[in-house]
Amino acid sequence: MELLRPAPEHLPSYVAALQRGWSPDTTRGAEAALEALAKIEADPASPFALVDDPEGLGPPWQAPDGTWRDRIPGRVRWMWDADGFAGSINLRWLKGTNALPPHVLGHVGYAVVPWRRQRGYATRALGLLLPLAQAEGLTFVDITTDPGNTPSQKVILANGGVFIERFDKGPTWGHKPGLRFRVPLGSA
Ligand SMILES: CC(C)(COP(=O)(O)OP(=O)(O)OC[C@H]1O[C@@H](n2cnc3c(N)ncnc32)[C@H](O)[C@@H]1OP(=O)(O)O)[C@@H](O)C(=O)NCCC(=O)NCCS
Repeated sequence: MELLRPAPEHLPSYVAALQRGWSPDTTRGAEAALEALAKIEADPASPFALVDDPEGLGPPWQAPDGTWRDRIPGRVRWMWDADGFAGSINLRWLKGTNALPPHVLGHVGYAVVPWRRQRGYATRALGLLLPLAQAEGLTFVDITTDPGNTPSQKVILANGGVFIERFDKGPTWGHKPGLRFRVPLGSA
């Protein structure tokens, strides 16, 4: 499995994953997959708009509570193996600080298509993404999970992450509980 910068030649395999109901939006799932497909039909370039957005110039995004939030700097990479698209991982940050806005739960989000899970892909993808975070000047990345998401917690721990705290995700996320982990990055 490799991480690649999504480009138009990768689109058919990504679309096939969306058609199977997978979505990089782990909160909204199949509904978000249908929305993404409609967007791609209207504008086939839409999945590539946020691939490298170091200035946070992308369009606002709608949070789970319905509020619209400004985009912050971000990058998206796709997991790719011999059979094509296998998952997606993204990095988001604020320039010059490790801090994040309170409604942004972590620096990194990832999702593997269900038919390629438990092959070490997410663990490897996070390891491959960390240098990109370091290149942005971050000295650590925070990653949050649901309390019951043991696979994701294992992904973080396998990459040198440590448990920080249990916390309340706040009003944007319906005050659901979360676990915060921190992965230290070597000094740049
Ligand atoms: C969490 C997720 C990304 C893990 O992806 P993955 O590629 O299957 O993860 P890995 O293969 O690297 O596995 C990591 C560890 O979790 C374990 N694991 C993964 N899926 C598991 C499952 N369903 N049941 C039990 N253990 C599981 C693996 O065996 C591995 O454990 P090990 O380190 O002891 O060998 C994937 O399940 C997913 O996309 N889930 C939905 C989206 C999500 O939760 N994203 C993270 C939000 S914080």
